[in-house]
Order: sequence, then structure tokens, then C-alpha cells
Amino acid sequence: MKKNLLTLSLISTLIISMISCKQKPTPLTDYTKESKDSYEARMKWWNDARFGMFIHWGVYSVPAGIYNGNEVKGGGEWIMNRAKIPIPEYEKFGKEFNPVKFDAAEWVRIAKDAGMKYIVITSKHHDGFGLWNSKVSKYDIVDFSPYRKDVLKMLSDECAKQGITLCFYHSIMDWHHPDANAENWAKYRENYLKPQLKELLTGYGKPGVLWFDGEWIKEWTEDQGKDIYNYLRNIQPDLIINNRVGKGRKGMQGMNKDTSFVGDFGTPEQEILSTSSSMAWESCMTMNNTWGFKTNDTNWKSSENLIKNLVDIVSKGGNFLLNVGPTSEGLIPAASVERLKEMGKWIKVNGEAIYGVRQLKSYKEGDDLRFTISADGKLINAFIMNWPGKQLNIKQIKPNDGSKIRMTGYDIDLKWNYDVEKGLTIELPDQANLPCKFVWVLKIEGAEI
Ligand code: GLC
Repeated sequence: MKKNLLTLSLISTLIISMISCKQKPTPLTDYTKESKDSYEARMKWWNDARFGMFIHWGVYSVPAGIYNGNEVKGGGEWIMNRAKIPIPEYEKFGKEFNPVKFDAAEWVRIAKDAGMKYIVITSKHHDGFGLWNSKVSKYDIVDFSPYRKDVLKMLSDECAKQGITLCFYHSIMDWHHPDANAENWAKYRENYLKPQLKELLTGYGKPGVLWFDGEWIKEWTEDQGKDIYNYLRNIQPDLIINNRVGKGRKGMQGMNKDTSFVGDFGTPEQEILSTSSSMAWESCMTMNNTWGFKTNDTNWKSSENLIKNLVDIVSKGGNFLLNVGPTSEGLIPAASVERLKEMGKWIKVNGEAIYGVRQLKSYKEGDDLRFTISADGKLINAFIMNWPGKQLNIKQIKPNDGSKIRMTGYDIDLKWNYDVEKGLTIELPDQANLPCKFVWVLKIEGAEI
């Protein structure tokens, strides 16, 4: 009996000590100390892609810029804050959010036909509403809205099918969650923000980018940014994360103050860097004046302007993330689709001068010429931004002797002459025979002088 008791107590001590002996967590890799080579390998697909679609979509597409009959200033996605809509009132819009016309295949096709290689969609904007079936929240499209379907799942399946990389925008700040305030911030961050991000990285294929925003609030610090950067990359080592994960961003210009700050690329917003940069960057821009859909915003940029922006950005070494704000029914506005089609037509002809290219030392000559160079360094692309007339003169490029110069989409060799004094003179095709409506590309085998 005594012996039995002894064995019993021995066993129970063993069990207790086994339980209490904490399992040592595997140490996290510190990815902020990554080598240049591995950074560049990870960024390769993104650097080659150049053109992506931003999608701002959520509950705010229901009021669509109007509250109590009044037009609300600013981006449509800010309406909750701008019109000071109390949470229970705003939630009513969530109950109405029923995008029955949403068609994932169609959205992805629109992006693909425009020549876009990736999509960044708002998994959660500042209003806190999620577009996926989150296990740690009831405030999402599956649990809260009549629609009841996981939009991100449908999109990620469709992106995989059509060969587009799906990426997620995610707001650090949250106007809906009760713990997203100074007092309870750590609770919100550890029990809500991080678990939600983990869901996005583990249940939706292999997202290419996590695109943070809302990092300016005082609760967020650079250390928290570094911590979450490592948390995410330890889940998915190849993930690319924008610089809004930390506190380095220099306002709307978007680049980091210096290299000590965390993040893989800079995020100029509604602007283009004034000159080229060797750091990775992506300019995000709206087609009208809002990110989230607004019924009354019809101030659309022209296709010509958008194509010129793309060229300007790519010649300076950046990517272009162009926004659409779908309606509450789930439709990308017709005006956006029209512009994307025009861009797609242009890219079909000239894509070789955009994808996978690199910067020249001097990305432009005057205001009317921009340049890129093929990855192997052999072919220079000269973009004619405004039609110069019968002849074009380029000072900073010398073609190889006996090489041919052609305009993309126009199958006839162009006559050219090189003179040390005058530079390169090219005879241009007749304006009636041009392969596209704006911005024409010349392919030149040669070198910069
Ligand atoms: C801003 C806005 C936001 C938008 C974002 C896009 O930071 O707060 O509404 O999503 O820019 O870059």
C-alpha cells in the first residue's frame, strides 16, 4: 500500500513537473538583419511586376460618401471618422453590405487584362471590418453581413487560377475594436491584430505582400513594427512588407527617413518620387479623388495621364499601385474599367519596356523622354512622352554601330544617324501609322554616354 502510494506520488510529481516545465519556444529569426542578396532575391518578383491593382472595399462603400443626406469630405473609406458616425450607427451599414454582384473571376480578369501582376486588397481598413472569415472576430463579411461569403477566399482561389499574386492591405489602427486604444493596446495587438494577420498568411494561399497602414497613431512604435515584421516573416519567410509597418515613413513622400527603419519598400501616396531612387518604392494612387467608392466622385484621371504616370514611375525604379473602389454591390466602377482597358491595350504593345526592366543612370532627357533598360543591359527603351514631330533627337544615348532602331508595335526599321555634336537623330513614322495613342517606345541597342 505504502509502495503504491509512493509510486502514485512519484508519477504525479512527474506529470506536474512535465506540465510546468515550459516548452522552450523556438527562437524567432531576426529578419531585419537579412543580407542584401537574400533581400534582393525575395524582392525579385515584385521588382519585375511593376504594376498592381489596389482595391479599397468595405462597409464604407454602402454610404458611398454620403451621410444623413450630406456629402462627406475626404476619402470615402474615412467616412466613419469624418462624419463622426457612432459605432452602432456605422454597424448598420455593415448589416446592409451585400455585394451580390461580386464576381472574383471578373475582378481578377480586369486586373490581368490591364497588365497588372498583383492585387492588394483591404483585408481590414481603419473601420475594423474584415473581408474574410476571421475566427477572432464577428465583425466581418461572413459573420456580420448578409452576404456570408469569404471574399478573400474567393479572390485568392481566383488569383491562383489566373496567375496573379494576391496581397493584403491591413490597417494597424482600428476604429471598431474596443481594445484598440492606449490603455489596452498590447491586448489588442497580441490577441487580435496578430492572430488576424496569421489567419491571412495561413488560410489564403501565399500572399505576396502585407501592406500596412495607420501606423501613425501614437500607440504604434518602431519596436512593435520590427516585432510584427519578424512575427510575419517567421510564418512566411518570403513575404514582402511595406514600410508602414514601422515609423520610418517621411509623410506622403513615403520613403523611410533612413535605413535603420523597418520595411521592404517605400510608399509614396498620391505622388511620384521627384527623381529616381535605388531603394524599392511603390507609388499608390487613386483614379479619381477617393480610395473607397464615392457616388459623387467623378473626377477621373485620363488614361493618357495614367499611362504617363506608369512610365514615369517605372523609369524612376518604382512600382505603380493603381486603385479601384468597388461599389457595395461588388462592381468595379465602369469609368475605372474603361481606363484599365486602355492601359491594358497600351501594355500589350509596350509591356516589354515595363516588366522586368531596370533603371538607367539617367532616367530621363528633358520632359518628353524617359528611359528603362532590359535586365540583361542590352536594350534601351526610350519612351516618347509627347510627340515631337518628324524627327527625334536624343543626346544621352549612343546606338551600337550598325544596330537597328524600331518602335514597338511598328515593324519597320527607323532611319537614324549618330553625330558626336548633335547626338542621335531618328526619323519617326508617320503619325497616322502609330501603334498606340500615347507614349511610344523606341528600342535601341546601345549605351548611355
Ligand atoms: C491613407 C488613408 C487611407 C488609404 C491609404 C492608401 O493612409 O488613411 O484611407 O487607404 O492612405 O495609401
